[in-house]
Amino acid sequence: MHLKKYSVTSRTTISYERTSALPSAHIELDARAVIAPLRRRIFGSFVEHLGRCVYDGIYEPGHPSANEDGFRLDVVELVKELGSTTIRYPGGNFVSGFRWEDSVGPREKRPVRRDLAWHSLETNQVGLDEFAKWLKLTDSELMLAVNVATRGILPALDLLEYANHPGGTALSDLRIANGAREPHDVRMWCLGNEMDGSWQTGFMTAEDYGKIAARTAAAMKMADKDLELVVCGSSGSAISTFGDWERTVLEHSYDYVDYISCHAYYQELEGDLGSFLASAIDMDYFIDTVVATADHVGYKKRSSKKINVSFDEWNVWYLTEHKKAEETNDEWRYAPRQLEDVYTVADAVVVGNLLMTLLKHSDRVTSASLAQLVNVIAPIMTEPGGPAWRQTTFYPFSITSRLASGEVIRPIIHAPEYDTAQHGQASLVDAVATVDEQRAAVFLVNRHLTEPTHVTIDLRSLGCSRVAEAVTLSDSDVHAKNTIDDQNRVTPIANASAVLAEGVLTIELPPVSWSAIALD
Ligand code: AHR
Repeated sequence: MHLKKYSVTSRTTISYERTSALPSAHIELDARAVIAPLRRRIFGSFVEHLGRCVYDGIYEPGHPSANEDGFRLDVVELVKELGSTTIRYPGGNFVSGFRWEDSVGPREKRPVRRDLAWHSLETNQVGLDEFAKWLKLTDSELMLAVNVATRGILPALDLLEYANHPGGTALSDLRIANGAREPHDVRMWCLGNEMDGSWQTGFMTAEDYGKIAARTAAAMKMADKDLELVVCGSSGSAISTFGDWERTVLEHSYDYVDYISCHAYYQELEGDLGSFLASAIDMDYFIDTVVATADHVGYKKRSSKKINVSFDEWNVWYLTEHKKAEETNDEWRYAPRQLEDVYTVADAVVVGNLLMTLLKHSDRVTSASLAQLVNVIAPIMTEPGGPAWRQTTFYPFSITSRLASGEVIRPIIHAPEYDTAQHGQASLVDAVATVDEQRAAVFLVNRHLTEPTHVTIDLRSLGCSRVAEAVTLSDSDVHAKNTIDDQNRVTPIANASAVLAEGVLTIELPPVSWSAIALD
């Protein structure tokens, strides 16, 4: 029996007509249940030399909005609005065949190479120095990956010298001669990418990689002991070596590295939307297992040091579609359209929920990267010579980045559960909150496929007095998308049902929805 019937009465407001009993949930927020300070690096993103992420994405000389360096300023504005913090670069699988020296110095002398990872041509017209300029436009921090797969310790040290040494050495002077007077001062470095995957150029066993990663990390720290180094963890929780890989790699490298990476991509498979909406359960398990494994190795070594998690690739990705398309890709093309997933409302709800899960692990996940940023499984799309627009997934990321602040609070959630084929029992509602001295923010998902859920949130311990903003992303068509022809088909809209009275907030969450509430 239903109490209320959900309807979107206009594109700006959600309202409810009381008809019958709704599913309901109750959430308790206690200001003392602090998980950890909010880590701004959790709002990181990823730019790989893949498809049209760099070329015809962030970089398109000749586009009406391009600056003198060829960077599209309409894209820069969207990246700023997205609120991403660190940006991982230049790959991804790409980095395992990359010679960084190809992409610095006079552009006309830079070689065109084959990129085996994505079977395309790389012109090297954008390299470290150009990308560092672009990062300044977007106010983001660089997280740089070195090629440990097919190169070695010396090229990694050379790149470190080129990027970070102030001057007076061969490679730092070369950077200065190339026009970058100030060092790029890169703090976070990835020691390769997905070295456990058979698709990786130069993939390795955990033993081999653990030893190389340890030696590379030790040498890099001889140059700068304060670098923050990320060793490759598993490329997914479903890979057969997961667990053993982390243990073995860390047994070799524990003393020299600071982070272990996690990568995870999710997709709606065979119309099983219920399982897909509960993807955060897998991410949660993945993080817990990696942290437990890292702590196990640390304990065995009697080390007081803790290794944190860099979840440096996460997103929704229709990987099975990509694999089908890949089989027919024999040509060597320049910036081909690859991995250009167009995201639905349901995808955005999952992305919002995954971000909530990362926040809930802020005690150990202290860096993360949404993969990727522009055109390639991305929140931002562009058309050459044409517009740039926001995908559905843009919104939960940008709104969370804008509203979350202070400390992350663990909620107690009382909600009905439902069965999923992939993840067992899943809560109908998931939530996380942040709080600082001035404001609080609550992020929520309703995973119900057809019904709105009535939620009450006990906020008394946070001392909030006013709802400053309440927005919801949902649609009567859960597979609605934003496209070049209908760029604003899906946008978040004000949720007028949010009411705060005597420290208890009530709100109606539409089916398959993501919501954010800011409170003063
Ligand atoms: O993000 C796309 C690709 O996914 C990355 O290059 C790789 O690391 C992962 O397999």
